[in-house]
Amino acid sequence: MSRGRIGILTGGGDCPGLNAVIRAVTKTAVHQLNMEVVGFLDGFRGLVEDETLPLTYDAVSNILNQGGTLLGTSGRETYFGVPAGSRLKPSKENRLKDALGVFRKHGLSGIICVGGDGTLTVAHHLHRRGIPMIGVPKTIDNDVLNTDLTLGFNSGCTVATDAVDRLHSTAASHHRAMVLEVMGRRAGWIALEAGLAGGGDVILIPEIPFSLEAVCEAIRRRHRSGRRFSIIVAAEGARPRGKKEGWAAPRGGVGIALSGEIERRTGLESRATVLGHLQRGGAPTFFDRVLATQFGHAAALLASRNRYGKMVCLKKGALGVVELKLGSGGTRDVPLNSPLIAAARAVGTSFGN
Ligand code: F6P
Repeated sequence: MSRGRIGILTGGGDCPGLNAVIRAVTKTAVHQLNMEVVGFLDGFRGLVEDETLPLTYDAVSNILNQGGTLLGTSGRETYFGVPAGSRLKPSKENRLKDALGVFRKHGLSGIICVGGDGTLTVAHHLHRRGIPMIGVPKTIDNDVLNTDLTLGFNSGCTVATDAVDRLHSTAASHHRAMVLEVMGRRAGWIALEAGLAGGGDVILIPEIPFSLEAVCEAIRRRHRSGRRFSIIVAAEGARPRGKKEGWAAPRGGVGIALSGEIERRTGLESRATVLGHLQRGGAPTFFDRVLATQFGHAAALLASRNRYGKMVCLKKGALGVVELKLGSGGTRDVPLNSPLIAAARAVGTSFGN
């Protein structure tokens, strides 16, 4: 006889490794814990509108290496991520009532929520309002509070690093300043780490507002020393001193704006590449598959022990557990005293400041 039922949902922007978490939770629950698993479709929408997928051992076979999420996801733009035109009643309280009703109807002990800051914040809210929750931090941005790493970051950075590598050869051939815009609206982890891994000459992150003149001077300096190309890796949230987020365009546009300015001010040819959702699609890396399996296994164990209100995390290389509220309600920036910034500066990388 089954020893209970748990739910699982994926919310917010997708990332590589979500299917691997769903698989790890389900296989641990079914195989090790003798529990049943119910998947909610499209994040919180499935919870509120009662759209589910029974997750059996077979249902999660052969998905370990697949990108995306078999459960679907929905954005954070509305409170529970309910798309416009949904048959749902509009008020938050009604949604909460619906969610509670669906939760009870399925006889669940709690729900494992795989998400970034937005999803985890809603999960914490629902936990306080009577739906026991466990959080699993994921986002390619790596900006969830109180975990050193989020699921998907390694895969996103791997794509971004490959892009930096590829831009090097074409930049060198044409003697151009190539700007790569990567994701990261509030935190610059991808730009910093992929820039470091790919040997970017200039790295621009939201945490360090830049001066256009300093960026151009770094490029001119390289030129003067005989290096006839430059690679600039910019987070989509990077901004010049004194400007607000979204200075170039409400969404993205930093790379193109920068490239135009570089060409105008230095007289060197420049091109921009916006990597966009390529960073979020496709198969998870080896690292993210392992992390997803560990996170999923740990989350299922917490559920079986009724330890709700927690978030699994990775701290100093070790798997851990923190209070769910510590992973919600904000984002984790790159600290200005980060050893990664120090190492990048030491090898001659400019942060444009
Ligand atoms: O939070 C993850 C993320 O990929 C950000 O880096 C990016 O700004 C945003 O999501 C894009 O969201 P959407 O897919 O809704 O355009």
